[in-house]
Amino acid sequence: MMRDKMIPVVDVDIKEAELQAVQDVVKSKYLVEGKNARSFEQKFSEFTGTKHVTTVVNGTCALHLALTALEIGPKDEVITTPYTFIASSNSILFTGAIPKFVDIDPETYNLNPEKIEESITKNTRAIMPVHIFGNPCDMGAIKDIAEDRNLLVIEDCAQAHGASIDGKHVGNFSDVAGYSFYGTKNLVGGEGGAVTTNNEELSEKIKSIKNHGRSPAGGYAHYLIGYNFRMTDMTAAIMNVQMDRAEEILTKRHYNGDRYRDLLKDTEEIQLQKILPKHQHSDYIMAPLILKEGTTQEQIIGYLKSKNIGSRTIYSLLSYQQPCYQDLSNWPLSRVINYPDYSKVKCLISENIAKRHFELPMVTSLTEENLEYITETLKQYF
Ligand SMILES: Cc1ncc(COP(=O)(O)O)c(C=O)c1O
Repeated sequence: MMRDKMIPVVDVDIKEAELQAVQDVVKSKYLVEGKNARSFEQKFSEFTGTKHVTTVVNGTCALHLALTALEIGPKDEVITTPYTFIASSNSILFTGAIPKFVDIDPETYNLNPEKIEESITKNTRAIMPVHIFGNPCDMGAIKDIAEDRNLLVIEDCAQAHGASIDGKHVGNFSDVAGYSFYGTKNLVGGEGGAVTTNNEELSEKIKSIKNHGRSPAGGYAHYLIGYNFRMTDMTAAIMNVQMDRAEEILTKRHYNGDRYRDLLKDTEEIQLQKILPKHQHSDYIMAPLILKEGTTQEQIIGYLKSKNIGSRTIYSLLSYQQPCYQDLSNWPLSRVINYPDYSKVKCLISENIAKRHFELPMVTSLTEENLEYITETLKQYF
């Protein structure tokens, strides 16, 4: 049966409790990072099982800060995926380091460990795997390569709240990890981010750099060149409530993901993102690939929208295909750093996935009837 209202592809799961929490902060007049941020850090540490958590203003700053604290800088190469949000590789550029794009696995859409190995040079310092759409990367293989070749690992967990490998939350398979709480993520603060690590010394450095290089006691002595990446206490208050609701939110997300995987498992015209054994997807984004020759993204998205089902493409332009990478002359560091000519880079698997994926609604407001309607409508198309 046709529906009269669009099922949204993005929806924000915010309730009265978040509103109340923000009002309390505003009434207290203590708007800057304070007790709410400390309490959120504690809750996020328990949630992820990572010892040290530092709140920051957004996920882009989280990655930038993580790389900076690891002293990754000019002329270092950092291996990452081109099939991600631009912030992953931009955070590398911000430090002066050079993003080295490596192709992905056609089934998991994540960095292919074999290709990582082939791309390591004497300048490679680190690997930044991105758990794309919330699908955990093959961290066992990536860690082995990193240990073998003496490389640092920074996990981009922006999309991976609630994703785990063998019961261990992502972000615990590397030196440091960055999270985003942007308004569409599984757990949302509007903006917001966190850097997590199990290394105490690194954590202290992260906390200092995010606060203009101060000591933990504050004051006006600055020991490191740092940034102001502090989170407001309004954001932290929302995040505190989101942490209290994390189980409820993630249970619904995982339910949606499991239902899609079950209802679409025999639909041969599309391929669902492959999840490796013992890996738990965060169920942030459901983006199947079109396998049927002759069917385009535009056709399928147009069809779904005509049936009131929200759909869109996400990264149909890979990071190196973005106009700002095709011509880096507007980036000031290109005056002193010899970047590769990104217009010559080719990651064929990523390019294929960029052209053939489409997104289905994964929001917590989906009902069972919505899930059945969406999957039935999709099957009818083929
Ligand atoms: C994979 C990935 N990395 C990094 C970011 C950057 O996070 P933010 O938007 O909070 O700066 C995002 C999100 O938006 C993302 O999806």
